[in-house]
Amino acid sequence: MNGLPIARATTADLEEIRRDLEEFWGSEDRALWTPERKQNISNLHSVMYVHEFADTSYVVRENDRVVAYLFGFIVESRRLAYASLVAVRDGYKKRGLAAGLYRAFAQDARAGGCVLLRAVTVSENAPSIAFHTRRIGMTMQGECRENGVPVVENYAGIGKHRVVFEKALS
Ligand SMILES: CC(C)(COP(=O)(O)OP(=O)(O)OC[C@H]1O[C@@H](n2cnc3c(N)ncnc32)[C@H](O)[C@@H]1OP(=O)(O)O)[C@@H](O)C(=O)NCCC(=O)NCCS
Repeated sequence: MNGLPIARATTADLEEIRRDLEEFWGSEDRALWTPERKQNISNLHSVMYVHEFADTSYVVRENDRVVAYLFGFIVESRRLAYASLVAVRDGYKKRGLAAGLYRAFAQDARAGGCVLLRAVTVSENAPSIAFHTRRIGMTMQGECRENGVPVVENYAGIGKHRVVFEKALS
């Protein structure tokens, strides 16, 4: 994976990511990067990931800069590993960084007894859908369709359908 090591995310990493959010999330599809989406994504970057879920929140750094991250958590009672946020900085995309972060998360999740990996995105996010299905091998749940892809209705609130990816951790 480019030889770059994976580390646990710190508070300083989270601050840097929040400051540079557009470089991680804004470039793939400019039309998607509305003020509302920016606010929603910013809100998702909770300090919980570095305070409470630091064991399953990872970053890749190059030259003291965060270039990729995956924030997740484990639900032990359901043996579920939930990948909440994954993003790669512009200039570092399509080099296998996100896949490497998933490998690290899946390895820790298996060690923690998890049998299912889950992730969620919006139906407009074609790169995320391509990445999770083709590269990670996850399947999309849900029987309804939005923008031509299966979604779970009202997953994120009334009228807020989401693409829900799953994969068995063997
Ligand atoms: C989705 C994302 C995390 C993928 O990261 P990445 O490091 O570029 O992914 P990898 O290099 O590990 O895997 C690349 C594979 O993912 C898929 N993929 C990634 N970006 C793609 C794009 N723009 N279009 C089509 N397929 C894409 C392809 O299958 C690709 O393999 P290929 O190059 O052989 O076609 C990255 O595009 C990103 O940061 N997006 C913005 C944030 C986001 O939407 N995150 C997901 C929602 S939680």
